[in-house]
Amino acid sequence: MRAKSAARSLVLACALAALALPAWAQRGGALAPGPGFFPNTAKGERLFKQNCAVCHGENLRGTDKGPPLIHPVYKPDHHGDVAFQLAVRNGSRQHHWNFGDMQPVPGLTAEDVGHITAYVRREQRKAGLF
Ligand code: HEC
Repeated sequence: MRAKSAARSLVLACALAALALPAWAQRGGALAPGPGFFPNTAKGERLFKQNCAVCHGENLRGTDKGPPLIHPVYKPDHHGDVAFQLAVRNGSRQHHWNFGDMQPVPGLTAEDVGHITAYVRREQRKAGLF
């Protein structure tokens, strides 16, 4: 039952990370695209390649600087869309991997991150993650 207890500690780690969110979230600004937002995966793919691929990989499979986003840890029921907004705005402390912290990625709106998230979700679905 090793896998099961590993999965459990992962869930615990995420719950602890989630507890830390309110403090980060206080930095202001919307954490979701506004009303009327319509996700555009083509735009999301372009923005991902410009801003995220250097660490998360052109094909979302990770690099030596960052983890794959096509991975069970980043499924929607584990890291919801708001986790993407928060990671981009505030960065993310190293907690799941050993790549170091993710720094904030400046210059992206909540809508931009919404497009990126839609693209990532589409690729996760294609890979059979959910
Ligand atoms: C300079 C490298 C780097 C860049 C650029 C980068 N990331 Fe990350 N990202 C990381 C690392 C490293 C982690 C893993 C931290 C950990 O959990 O150990 C991470 C984690 C994440 C997470 C999970 C956060 C959590 O709550 O656990 C999300 C979501 C994410 N990145 C999305 C993005 C998106 C979207 C972009 C582009 C807008 C991006 N990243 C750009 C390095 C990067």
